[in-house]
Amino acid sequence: MHRKPAFTRVRPALMRIMAVLFGGIVAQGAAQAFPTKPITIVVPFAAGGPSDTIARLFAASMSQKIGGQVIVENVAGAGSTVGIGRVAKADPDGHTLLLSHISHATTATLYRKLSYDPIKAFAPVGMVTDGAFVLVSRKDFGTDTLPQLFARLKADGDKITYAHAGVGSGSHLCGLMLMGQLGVKMTQIPYRGTGPAMNDLVSGKVDVLCDQITSALPQIQGKAIKAYAVTSTEKVKGLDLPTLAASGLPGFRATVWHGLYAPAGTPAPVIGQINKALREALKDPVILQRLAQLSTDPATEAQADPAFLGKHLVSEIAAWKKIIDTAGVYAD
Ligand code: MLT
Repeated sequence: MHRKPAFTRVRPALMRIMAVLFGGIVAQGAAQAFPTKPITIVVPFAAGGPSDTIARLFAASMSQKIGGQVIVENVAGAGSTVGIGRVAKADPDGHTLLLSHISHATTATLYRKLSYDPIKAFAPVGMVTDGAFVLVSRKDFGTDTLPQLFARLKADGDKITYAHAGVGSGSHLCGLMLMGQLGVKMTQIPYRGTGPAMNDLVSGKVDVLCDQITSALPQIQGKAIKAYAVTSTEKVKGLDLPTLAASGLPGFRATVWHGLYAPAGTPAPVIGQINKALREALKDPVILQRLAQLSTDPATEAQADPAFLGKHLVSEIAAWKKIIDTAGVYAD
């Protein structure tokens, strides 16, 4: 019987061993060499909004933990899909990250021609925060209570302007849910984030907004705007407001979570280093105190995990797909 030379027989096994060893060395090298330049966290909404606030808070803490500069870049437009798309195409070396919220899940259905795959194009790092929205109006809108606000929305309909952060944003969906349940149609005014939307609410250029508590709270406390109700099913600590669900809109629930992602293909040890910095930031007393002041929950140990975020994103995309397909509303 013809036998292959011994070297030929052992060569595939040898090559597999070498690949594992060599891969290990490369991966270790990548982890040791990271970061080699400033890390950019892309926020897919304008400066001054809730996503921006959270990104800057975590960037400052993560800079210290990771031993390199972490900066924030606002890449707004098309309900967050411009910024998300930018990170999808970035070099997968851990130096470009994405901080995005539920719009990452909603736009997966709302936009039927995305330039990226919302799941496959990303390597999840971990969940960052969880919070609720608050329904607010300009301070001289002329209503003081939620029943008065509802009555005014029903009476004046499209004479009232509703500001939001673009199709697919949290504020957009919160507004759609509100209008759907109330049976009213306000005139929608899209912005590149709720930062600029809030500026126009404060200066009285628009009437109503549903913004994340994270950035609306200082304006509420400073009495620059009027607040009526929160969108979670439980009341929110630090805000003496009813829930919409208990105030005539049974079952109303809109909450917003933020996640941190790298482009797909980022080496696992690099994801591990970023995740470690995120977990440490989530224990940073400065961050915890600030989030508590902003009535926003930090991610738990279990949530600040790549696998958790990956599964959560998949389930949120599926959940929002049902809602959006039922409503039959798309961005294109
Ligand atoms: C949203 O409405 O989705 C966000 O508040 C946008 C933002 O972070 O500016």
